[in-house]
Amino acid sequence: METTTQRLSLVDKAPETDSFREAVLNGLRKPQKQIPSKFLYDDRGSKLFDRICKQDEYYPTRTEMEIMRTHAEAMADAVGPRARLVEYGSGSSRKIRLLLDHLENLAAYVPVDISRDHLLEAAESLVEAHPDLPIQPLCADYTTPFELPEPPRPPARTVAYYPGSTIGNFPPDEARDFLAHVRTVVGRDGGLLIGVDLKKDVDVLEAAYNDAAGVTAAFNKNLLRRMNRELDATFDLDRFEHLSVWNDEEGCIESFLQSREAQTVTVAGGSIAFAEGETIHTEYSYKYTLEDFAALMQEAGFAVDEVWTDERSYFSVQYCTVRRTVR
Ligand code: AVJ
Repeated sequence: METTTQRLSLVDKAPETDSFREAVLNGLRKPQKQIPSKFLYDDRGSKLFDRICKQDEYYPTRTEMEIMRTHAEAMADAVGPRARLVEYGSGSSRKIRLLLDHLENLAAYVPVDISRDHLLEAAESLVEAHPDLPIQPLCADYTTPFELPEPPRPPARTVAYYPGSTIGNFPPDEARDFLAHVRTVVGRDGGLLIGVDLKKDVDVLEAAYNDAAGVTAAFNKNLLRRMNRELDATFDLDRFEHLSVWNDEEGCIESFLQSREAQTVTVAGGSIAFAEGETIHTEYSYKYTLEDFAALMQEAGFAVDEVWTDERSYFSVQYCTVRRTVR
C-alpha cells in the first residue's frame, strides 16, 4: 500500500493484528510467559518511549546524542558522500538530525518503523526542516525481510543506521543473525552506524529502567492496555507490577510484568492463569563491553572501523563496514 501526503510517499508494510495475536497467544502459553518487546511500540508506546528518553535516570539517549553532536563530522566522513541511509526503528527521527547537516549529498534517507503514525509525523516534520531531503519512509517490522524503495538516484553505498542500543533488545545469538541480515541489506560496500550501550555500575543500569516518575512502568504496562484494546483482553493494570532487573550472568536488564496475585485473565477468547508473583517477560536490554561487541560484529560479517564514546564510557557509537572476506 502507498499513502501519499503532500511531499511524502509512505510505503506501508505494517504487520497485521494477526501477528500480535499469534505472538501473544504463543508467548503466554510458555512456562515463562513472554511477549516480544517490539510489541511495546504501538502509537502510545512510542510516545511513552519518547518520554522515557527525557527522564533523568535514562542516560542512553542523552549520552548518545552528546556523542553524535561531538563527533558528527567524523561520523559523516565515515559514511561518505552520496550514501543512502536506512534507519532501523526511526521513531521520532531525532538523532539523525544531528548528522543530516554534515552528510554530503545524501542519496536518500529511509526511516523504517513499525508505528505508522509516528513514522509519518516524524517524516513530515523532517521535510519541513530539510525541504530538499530525499526521504522515503517505510512502515515495516524490520526484523522480518523487507525490500528497500527504489532510490531517487543511485547511491554510492547503503549505510544502515541503528541507534539507541536497540540491538540490545536481541539476545546475542539473535543479534548476530539480525546483524548478518543487515549486512545483506547494505550489500558488499555497505556500512553500519550503530549505537551500543556499555556495561556499567548496576545501580546506574537499574535506575535507568526504573525511573522515579514511573514512565518506564507505564511504557511496560501499555502492553497490557494494548492487549485489552486489540485482543479483547481483560487485564487489570493495577494488578500487575513493572519490574526491571540486572541479570549478571546474561549481561542484560530484563523487564517483566509481574502479577500481584493469583488471577485468570481472558485474552483473545482464551483464558490465561497467573500465579501470585508470576511474570511475563517483556524485554531484554543487553549491555556490551567494546571487546564483546567487536567479536559479535565479526561473527556477523562486519569489522568495527571506528568507535566513539562519552567521557564516562557509558555508551558508544560505532562505524562498521562489511568485511571483505567472510568466513
Ligand atoms: C531503545 C529499545 C534500546 O532497551 O533501553 C527503554 C527501550 N525500554 N526503557 C532500551 C527501553 C525501557 C530501549 N531501547
